[in-house]
Amino acid sequence: MDAEAWDERYAAAALVWSAEPNRFVAQECADLPPGRAVDLAAGEGRNAIWLARRGWQVTAVDFSAVALDKGARLAGETEVEWVAGDATEWRSAESVDLAVIAYLQLPAAQRRAASRHAVESLRPGGTFLLVAHDSTNLAEGTGGPQDPTVLMTAEDVLADLDGIEVDVVRAGRVAREVVVGDDHRGEAAATAWDCLVRLTRR
Ligand SMILES: C[S@@+](CC[C@H](N)C(=O)[O-])C[C@H]1O[C@@H](n2cnc3c(N)ncnc32)[C@H](O)[C@@H]1O
Repeated sequence: MDAEAWDERYAAAALVWSAEPNRFVAQECADLPPGRAVDLAAGEGRNAIWLARRGWQVTAVDFSAVALDKGARLAGETEVEWVAGDATEWRSAESVDLAVIAYLQLPAAQRRAASRHAVESLRPGGTFLLVAHDSTNLAEGTGGPQDPTVLMTAEDVLADLDGIEVDVVRAGRVAREVVVGDDHRGEAAATAWDCLVRLTRR
């Protein structure tokens, strides 16, 4: 999907994602001391706003102007720097303590560029956290993009970072329990499979 398609998607609903942060972003970042953070492909800013409310100085980057506008409104008094930009080209002017990429759905070469730029933006010891729909979600999970070329595994993400010195804290598949609705059968619990990579830059 290009920026225009994302703009249309964001314009069509009051909130496409949740107002609350993604559960894995919240879990993984809760123990980090606040500093400077970037949220690449921040969408409506649920994770950026959550971080900012915990004392982080956050830059939220997305190529959808509609998403960023919605984020700014959702943030209210909370200060977040909203930046319209392409995650595959974005470079930080200053090094950051935390770079988050949550559910960015791009073909491999573009995903690689975004992940590398995010990790290269970190100070030594800074944390990179990527959460995404796992490749196995197609066959074994529920929801998420159905195009296999924008899905990934933790191994793919680590391979994207070849040559950059990092210490891996966590890398693997994580289960996200969700409730799915069905007109005929009502609501049911289901599992969505995500991949999660948390590492620090050496
Ligand atoms: C599934 S949404 C996730 C949003 C947010 N990270 C979250 O977890 O709520 C994917 C986001 O990636 C953004 N996006 C996709 N390709 C992008 C690119 N090349 N540069 C910047 N943003 C991009 C879209 O506009 C969209 O907001």
